[in-house]
Amino acid sequence: MTVHIGAKPGQIAETVLMPGDPYRARWAAETFLERAELVHEVRGMFGFTGTWRGHRVSIQGSGMGMPSLSIYANELIRDYGAKTLIRIGSCGAMQPEVKVRDVVLAMTSSTLSTPSSGIFRELNFAPAADFGLIAAAHAAATARGITPHVGGIYSSDVFYDERPDLTEQMTRHGVLAVEMEAAELYILAARYGIRALAVLTVSDSLVTGEALPSDQRERSFGDMVEVALEAAFA
Ligand code: HPA
Repeated sequence: MTVHIGAKPGQIAETVLMPGDPYRARWAAETFLERAELVHEVRGMFGFTGTWRGHRVSIQGSGMGMPSLSIYANELIRDYGAKTLIRIGSCGAMQPEVKVRDVVLAMTSSTLSTPSSGIFRELNFAPAADFGLIAAAHAAATARGITPHVGGIYSSDVFYDERPDLTEQMTRHGVLAVEMEAAELYILAARYGIRALAVLTVSDSLVTGEALPSDQRERSFGDMVEVALEAAFA
């Protein structure tokens, strides 16, 4: 048990999928894992462990934003021995060719700051995904008829953004989409020598204002879970 995860030692797998929403963690565990077991529910941030095609997998909610993800990722890595963390979440498109329902694989993520900024001080550290996971996720997505966008994203500290000038500069520089967790996940993976990737589906577009209706989110989310699982065990 850690401060925020109530699972016993050994109850969490080396591979962990991390959706922001704990109810998505429960849905993914019940839908895609065999023998899924709730291993803790501290603060309602469910963690499940089961198997997928014979491989042990956990699915742990991260909450929203980098400070929340950082707590769960730190404890998963340092206390439970996690070796592969894959964020599965939604993002807002920042390019016209990135459409609602599309899949984005984040190679890197720009930020204004992260919970690790205090360590780096004047350094702009470049967080990077694990190349093997990107390649495997790309292959898994392509095999399902999905053509993912692969490139840089933006991990924001705010959902209700007040800097349209900054969004404009990022769009101009090819940033694909905005979400709120990947950069800190990649920094922690670098610090502890583990693998990380963010597999994202586009839930809305900052370019067109289009948003995915809630009844259509589940299907896109399901594709993403399967791409993440196939990448983890490729
Ligand atoms: N901003 C931040 N995070 C998001 C967004 C957004 O527009 N859409 C989905 N996650």
